[in-house]
Amino acid sequence: MALLQILSLVLLSVQQSTSAGICPEYCAGQSVHFPFRLSTQPDRCGYPGFNLSCKNQIKAMLSLPFAGEFVVRDIDYLYQRIWINDPGGCTPARLVHGLNLSGTPFEPQYPESYVFLNCSDAAISKQVPEVRYISCLSGETFSVVAIPVDRLDMYRTLLWSCGKIAEVLVPDWDPIYGMGLRWTEPNCMGCELGGGTCMFKSDTGLDIRCSGGFNSGISTSAKLGIIFGAGIPLLCTLGLVCHLRRKANDFYNHHQHHNSGISVPVVGSSRSAAGNAKGLDGPTIEAYPITVLDESRRLSRPGDNTCSICLCEYQANEKLRTIPDCKHYFHAVCLDEWLKRNSACPLCRNTPHISAAIVSS
Ligand SMILES: *[C@@H]1O[C@H](CO)[C@@H](O)[C@H](O)[C@H]1NC(C)=O
Ligand SMILES: *[C@@H]1O[C@H](CO)[C@@H](O)[C@H](O)[C@H]1NC(C)=O
Ligand SMILES: *[C@@H]1O[C@H](CO)[C@@H](O)[C@H](O)[C@H]1NC(C)=O
Repeated sequence: MALLQILSLVLLSVQQSTSAGICPEYCAGQSVHFPFRLSTQPDRCGYPGFNLSCKNQIKAMLSLPFAGEFVVRDIDYLYQRIWINDPGGCTPARLVHGLNLSGTPFEPQYPESYVFLNCSDAAISKQVPEVRYISCLSGETFSVVAIPVDRLDMYRTLLWSCGKIAEVLVPDWDPIYGMGLRWTEPNCMGCELGGGTCMFKSDTGLDIRCSGGFNSGISTSAKLGIIFGAGIPLLCTLGLVCHLRRKANDFYNHHQHHNSGISVPVVGSSRSAAGNAKGLDGPTIEAYPITVLDESRRLSRPGDNTCSICLCEYQANEKLRTIPDCKHYFHAVCLDEWLKRNSACPLCRNTPHISAAIVSS
C-alpha cells in the first residue's frame, strides 16, 4: 500500500507538472491561468475573450470590446467570477450609462437596476440612507447618487432636488472592490473544485478537459490513497467519493494559500456584499426537495446524468437534491456541503433564497 501511495503521488506530480507546463503565469502576484491568459502567452493558454495584459507587473488589465479597459482586482476561478475596476478610480462613471458587455464571455454578477441621480442638495446621502453616494462624480454643490429602482418610490419626496441621469442595469459593485462579472463558458468549476488544471482538450477547437487533481487520470483507489495516506479498498459509494473530493479540495485550497499567498477562491467567496458568501442553514437546505432515482435514472431534464459538483454519474437509488427555482439537480450529499458554504446554485449562480428575500422585503 505504501508503494501504491508513493507511486500515485509521483504520478500526480508528473501529470501536473507536464500538463500545467508553460501556461500558468503571474501578474502582480496574482496567478493567471486558464481560461485567462496574458497576452504574452501562447493563444492556447486561454479561452477566447479571456486575454489579460500585464501592465508593468503592477496590474492585470482586461480590455472589453465595447466597455473599454479595466484593472483586474481579483479573479475567483472556482466560482468563475472576476472583479474589475476603472483604472481612473471611478467605477460608477463606467456604469452610469450602462455597461455594454457585448462580444465578451462575461455577464454582470447580481445585476440590479439602478437610477443614477444628480441632486442639487449636496447632503442628500445623509437624508436618504439607501442611496449610494458617488463621490468621484459629485461636486461641492451637487451630489450624484444611485438608488435601486424599486426603492425610488419610497424616497421620492426626499429626492425632490434630484434629476435623473440614467436608469441602467448594473452588476454588483463596490467602491473598492470594483464590479463583479461572471462567466459560465468554459465551465471549469468541477475541475477547479477537484484541484485539477482546466485546459483545452486538443490543439484546435474549444472542448476542454481537466488534468490532474481528483477528477481524472489516476484511479479512484489511488486518489483515496493520497487523501487518507493509506490504502482504502474500493468499496466506497459515490457519495463518499464526493465527500473525499471536497476534503481534498479543502486541503488543496489551504495548501495553495500557504504556498503563494494568493487567495483567489477565498477572497471571492468571503465577500458578503451580495449576501452570497454565506451558506444556508440546515433547515433551509433540508427544505429543498429530494428525489430518489429509480432504475431508469431519468431526471426531468434529459441529458442531465452527472452531478456537476463531484462529476460523478448518477446511479439508481441515489438521493439527489434540487434547488427549487432553477431546477438543477445534484447529489444531495454534494449539494448539502456546497450550500453550507455558498447559497448560490453551482451551475447557474442563482440565489433563489436571496432574491426572494429582496422581493418580499
Ligand atoms: C485576444 O487574443 C487573440 C489571440 O491573440 C486575439 O486575436 C484577440 O484580438 C485578443 N482579444 C483582445 C480583446 O485583446
Ligand atoms: C454594444 O455596443 C455595440 C457597438 O456600439 C452595439 O452595436 C451593441 O448594440 C451594444 N449592445 C448593447 C447590449 O447595448
Ligand atoms: C450635476 O449637475 C451639476 C449642476 O447642477 C453639473 O455641473 C454636473 O455636471 C452634473 N453632473 C452630472 C454627472 O450630470
